[in-house]
Amino acid sequence: MMTLTINIERLLHELDLLALITDCPPIQDRPLPGTTQAVTRIVFTPRDLEARAWLKELVLAAGFTVREDAVGNTFLRWEGTDAGLGAVGTGSHTDAIPYAGMYDGTVGVLGGLEAMRSLKEAGFVPKRAIETLMLTSEEPTRFGIGCIGSRLLGGVIDPEAADRMLDRLPETDASAPTGLTLADVRQAAGFHGSLAGVKLPIGHYHAWVELHIEQGPLLEREGIELGIVTNIAAPSSYRYTVEGFGGHAGALLMPDRRDALCAAAEMILSVERHARAANANSGGVDTVATIGMVGVYPGAVNSVPSRVTLILDLRDTDVARRDGVLSAFHADIAEIEQRRGVKVQEEIVNADAPAKSSEHIVETVETICKAEGVSYKKMVSRAYHDSSFIAVVAPTAMLFIPSRAGVSHKPDEYSTPESIAVGTRMLALALAKLANE
Ligand code: GLV
Ligand code: MN
Ligand code: MN
Repeated sequence: MMTLTINIERLLHELDLLALITDCPPIQDRPLPGTTQAVTRIVFTPRDLEARAWLKELVLAAGFTVREDAVGNTFLRWEGTDAGLGAVGTGSHTDAIPYAGMYDGTVGVLGGLEAMRSLKEAGFVPKRAIETLMLTSEEPTRFGIGCIGSRLLGGVIDPEAADRMLDRLPETDASAPTGLTLADVRQAAGFHGSLAGVKLPIGHYHAWVELHIEQGPLLEREGIELGIVTNIAAPSSYRYTVEGFGGHAGALLMPDRRDALCAAAEMILSVERHARAANANSGGVDTVATIGMVGVYPGAVNSVPSRVTLILDLRDTDVARRDGVLSAFHADIAEIEQRRGVKVQEEIVNADAPAKSSEHIVETVETICKAEGVSYKKMVSRAYHDSSFIAVVAPTAMLFIPSRAGVSHKPDEYSTPESIAVGTRMLALALAKLANE
């Protein structure tokens, strides 16, 4: 196995610079060490475009090529000596939900670039091309569905339906699209051409490995340096519209109200109860249900809500159990409709399958960890990732590094320089090994 040093100072500096491309003001009081910045970087906003331009400059300076597809997935490519062979891929995303941290996704993109750079500087010559991808809109903030870029690469979303997806920025009222579509927004951002051309042919990637922060507490708690992901839990998401009868908050008498927000509140507690019950039955923790977005119409302090939109995020490692929670929720919704005189409509945003890692890639990383004396554990990812959808067209696996206190999607998300260095080094060694197969 080759000896390899990662330039961790360079990588940390670049993570810091990228974190400064944010729509959040700097955090002044730095509540925890390492917390420098809250990051909001929503796809195709000026900040996202700024980050993309900055990244492309870094890549060209490092002597790699850049290709962008019609949805803005960006391929940073290092040619191999055998152009006929499938490439080895890595990468992640640089978009960030509102008030996020600075490591989610970015460690996989800048870590992938650093892996390629440090291999090149060490004199490594790959037989297969190595690519680091910056994937468009892993986060669902703007269009309501996550992993748009990787879904298109994997062919798991219809390109024309994708282009028709509504822009829901700003989502102050979850029911209020801006009137634009993905097609309008991506073209205004400079990404033209048909989305049908984005799908990757089988064989484009011989192997794919994504580096990411764990976003959960297990690695830190157990003092383990690296997680090797064997499965990614199945995500799903549903949009609900609750129609009631509202009016003047003083004059509309209590018996005459059909308050849509009170009905929605019961729905929120119902799905939480069913997710907890599923975990109690299984003796596990794999079922998770979240309603993180609520839109209230008309949204006035002195008006009884007549319409509410809710967005449910429901995940499980076991699809049948996930479906069981949804059925129990449906039964409660029917009862709430009846009792409160409201009407609830459901729209499926996505209901995806779980992803399974390639045993070959998992074993390859295990062999590298053993040889390098790096502690590791095989684990499930409860968060979804672009790898969930790349897995449809390529053998994949993921590497996790510890997250402080398991915190993510918050500004105090943090991974230590040592963890980032170990993860990037293991990634580079895995890419090198796979690229010479
Ligand atoms: C990804 O950001 C997820 O929500 O799992
Ligand atoms: Mn995220
Ligand atoms: Mn992520």
